[in-house]
Amino acid sequence: MSDIETTAKKRALSCVQPSGILTLGNYLGALKNFKAMQDDFECIFAVADLHAITVRQQPAALRQQIYSTYALFLSIGLDPEKSILFVQSHVKEHAALSWLLSCNTQFGEMARMTQFKDKSAKHADNINVGLFSYPVLMAADILLYKPDFVPVGADQKQHLEIARDIANRFNNNYGEVFKIPEPYIPPLCARVMSLQNPEQKMSKSDENQNAFVSLLDDKDTIIRKFKRAVTDSDNKICVSEDKPGITNLIGIYSAVTGKSTAEIEAEFSGKGYGDFKLAVGEAVAEELSPIYENYNRFISDKAELDRMFREGAEKASYLANKTYKKAMKKVGFVL
Ligand code: TRP
Repeated sequence: MSDIETTAKKRALSCVQPSGILTLGNYLGALKNFKAMQDDFECIFAVADLHAITVRQQPAALRQQIYSTYALFLSIGLDPEKSILFVQSHVKEHAALSWLLSCNTQFGEMARMTQFKDKSAKHADNINVGLFSYPVLMAADILLYKPDFVPVGADQKQHLEIARDIANRFNNNYGEVFKIPEPYIPPLCARVMSLQNPEQKMSKSDENQNAFVSLLDDKDTIIRKFKRAVTDSDNKICVSEDKPGITNLIGIYSAVTGKSTAEIEAEFSGKGYGDFKLAVGEAVAEELSPIYENYNRFISDKAELDRMFREGAEKASYLANKTYKKAMKKVGFVL
């Protein structure tokens, strides 16, 4: 039996799509917590490359993004010795289980998913069936590994709910196969807003480059983006509903430095926005600079990444295959 089967730790699983550059929002909202979770949980993290093609991708860009997302996992401190890190498409059971689950999911359930509605409005020329059944594939990602917890942001909550519904229904119809996963809300979870429009979530697909910080921006770029961050015309550094810009910057500063809101307000009382924005920019740049350096090292050795892909896939396949076979048998397939 592998180590992962014998530990008493609870298991957690999450996946990240390899679509475009990851931002400070992805980092503070998810990735930084993944790193912290590694010691307390038995963790499984995957690059969800199959999900990426629900919107059109250039093949060369997709290939590059798969390497780059995995290299970023490593760069932030995810450790293949502690956790299972793999690429979704390398483990065939994801797509295969997704079919079994599809036949146990109702059209009406999928049609209610708000992300499907948003994405089909955004990509009106490509409302493909994969985009529609995306949450079923996500359910397969989760259920194959029987995790206790799935750390997800607010936008993925509905998808996790449906995964739980699908699992419950399958278990009721065919007998116990899947574990029902719980959402995991990390202790330090920052919802990072756009630097240009603090009413909106920070997004890598924003046309305005100043609205987001990429995990691979250099120090000068990061500081410049924070200097240009949109704030109000008042000059008081405090959290307030009518000060979304400053509130967002305080949230970022707090997530990066570990200081509380009260400490930050005291630290900057009597100081101006200029000083504060510079301090936030410097703190973020300092936090991201090792990531940037690690990334350049990891991404320049594709052979080593390929080797880690294989090792991760092997570990993941061992677990996935057991669950998949059990589900197939219960449905009545001859193995
Ligand atoms: N849909 C998730 C997102 O876009 C990514 C994802 C795919 C995922 N499979 C998953 C997240 C399984 C958690 C568990 O963010």
